[in-house]
Amino acid sequence: MSKKPETVSTVAELRARLTVARQSGARIGLVPTMGALHEGHLSLVRETKARCDLAVVSIFVNPAQFGPNEDFTRYPRTFESDCAKLAGLADLIFAPAVPEIYPEGFAMRIEVGGPVLGLESDFRPHFFSGVATVVAKLLIAVMPDEATFGEKDYQQLLVIRRLTADLGLPIQIVAGQTVREPDGLAMSSRNAYLSSEERKIASQLNVVLRNVAEKVQQGESTASAEAWGREALLRAGFTSVDYVAVRESATLAAIESLVRPARVLAAAKLGSTRLIDNLPV
Ligand code: PAJ
Repeated sequence: MSKKPETVSTVAELRARLTVARQSGARIGLVPTMGALHEGHLSLVRETKARCDLAVVSIFVNPAQFGPNEDFTRYPRTFESDCAKLAGLADLIFAPAVPEIYPEGFAMRIEVGGPVLGLESDFRPHFFSGVATVVAKLLIAVMPDEATFGEKDYQQLLVIRRLTADLGLPIQIVAGQTVREPDGLAMSSRNAYLSSEERKIASQLNVVLRNVAEKVQQGESTASAEAWGREALLRAGFTSVDYVAVRESATLAAIESLVRPARVLAAAKLGSTRLIDNLPV
């Protein structure tokens, strides 16, 4: 059986452990997660381990990024099986309790603004400041050479690139490709919420994104392809559609017709479960 990674729960222990590694010249990579690990997370850890001497995985369900009516309390927490999945892949797990990250009196929040906002933040107004705040704290606690984030959460990846550049942190932000189920559904911890009926419909999110990408490739305007995408998702059985959008890849600026590189992004609900996905065009 492969070795279970060492687990630390305080920033002090984490720093003590990493200082030794850093002094011996180790390249350190971080993969921040909220646990409930699946193959998508594990692929980021594998890639990190391939590039680095020491792969650190953080597991922290971050209350600051959940809205008041979102799923913070019911978010899956599977710490023991997460540790087992990381055996032989990660070297160190950082699993802090909430007060270690947000101690009594904590009163700061980081807001990333600019063109990277819109889409997700129109529907989850607390989300990116919650993500930015915790990711800044994790990056500062670990001070890795690199940190990897999945393209599955494409807008989040861009917000974190902005945050790292604006704070002047000397950390390389690496993008990991989206890992999918055989039917195309992007792996997500939230897929566990889906009933078997909803699970079948869920695979249509990726299918519709592919069709929207094809339409703009064939010269259709983004507005018309987006409107088609919304209708197609509702026809497939999605309960509601937050957005279907074709945007410029680097900034997420709106475009009227395809200008490469572009990205097609969508968020839609199946019952109370909200799914997101995106593809390059
Ligand atoms: P979480 O949803 O646990 O995701 C952790 C990392 O795994 C993110 O970078 C996410 O983009 C990536 N990921 C999720 N599903 C993936 C898939 N199917 N293929 C490849 N990568 C995938 O995203 C968060 O946590 C949080 O917002 C966090 C950044 C940890 C801050 O709290």
